[in-house]
Amino acid sequence: MSRIFVTGSADGLGRLAAESLSAAGHELVVHARTEQRAVALASLVNAGASIVIGDFTQRDDVERVATELNDTTPLDAVIHNAGVWSGPAVMPVNIIAPYLLTALLRAPHRLVYLSSSSHYGGRPSMAGVDWGGRRPGSYEDSKLFVTTLMAAVARLRPDVLSNAVDPGWVPTRMGGRSAPDDIDLGHQTQEWLASSNDPDALTTGGYWYHGGRRQPHQSVYDRAFQDQLLEALAAETGVAL
Ligand SMILES: NC(=O)c1ccc[n+]([C@@H]2O[C@H](COP(=O)([O-])OP(=O)(O)OC[C@H]3O[C@@H](n4cnc5c(N)ncnc54)[C@H](OP(=O)(O)O)[C@@H]3O)[C@@H](O)[C@H]2O)c1
Repeated sequence: MSRIFVTGSADGLGRLAAESLSAAGHELVVHARTEQRAVALASLVNAGASIVIGDFTQRDDVERVATELNDTTPLDAVIHNAGVWSGPAVMPVNIIAPYLLTALLRAPHRLVYLSSSSHYGGRPSMAGVDWGGRRPGSYEDSKLFVTTLMAAVARLRPDVLSNAVDPGWVPTRMGGRSAPDDIDLGHQTQEWLASSNDPDALTTGGYWYHGGRRQPHQSVYDRAFQDQLLEALAAETGVAL
């Protein structure tokens, strides 16, 4: 059994993944944005999950969460699930927080990043990006960046299994009630990548949809673009990978 941290687990796909992994006997660390939102995680905490609280638009919160987790039993896996669709929080939550946690967390050997088919519409350029969240950010760009981060981590950390998942357009608060894809398939791939010993799950550098590997945006595996992204994120945060 593994110790697995799921970010953004108070709702949607993160919550479903945490519940399913907990029911399968894994040791969960769940995450809520605020103390008020932590109430939504009471049943998981009662079932034995640990909880961390932090607003991922606030870099101090992300760094504190990493410190808290590094002071406890090491994690086996992280599912970088927290995300927002629009507004100024897009870059801070969708790429800065997973980058900082990837750089700061000690030794999880499986990393799963929530991507989206929207990443195909992202621009492979950091020009003019407002990482700090003073202006609304592009969801498409943020998902291209986090998918590229996944591939860079797979290249630079050969001892880590790093993968990204497109969960499909599924009916959560973000996806909306009429989203057409299957909500169960929408969280199972990230659970499998975080915990399974199936040889197909023990691979790295993949972009996945419903249990199968797909070809991501061509820039994802472009080493020069990966390096530019990592340089921009390190310059912005002051933290190198
Ligand atoms: N649903 C889809 O169709 C779809 C499609 C492609 C990709 N995705 C990706 O899948 C992931 C999960 O999406 P979802 O559909 O489950 O969305 P959701 O239902 O809106 O849940 C998002 C989660 O992220 C958390 N979060 C948002 N802002 C945060 C912040 N500032 N600090 C900390 N946590 C924050 C939310 O916490 P609160 O509840 O407290 O706000 C919530 O737990 C996202 O990365 C999303 O981009 C979803």
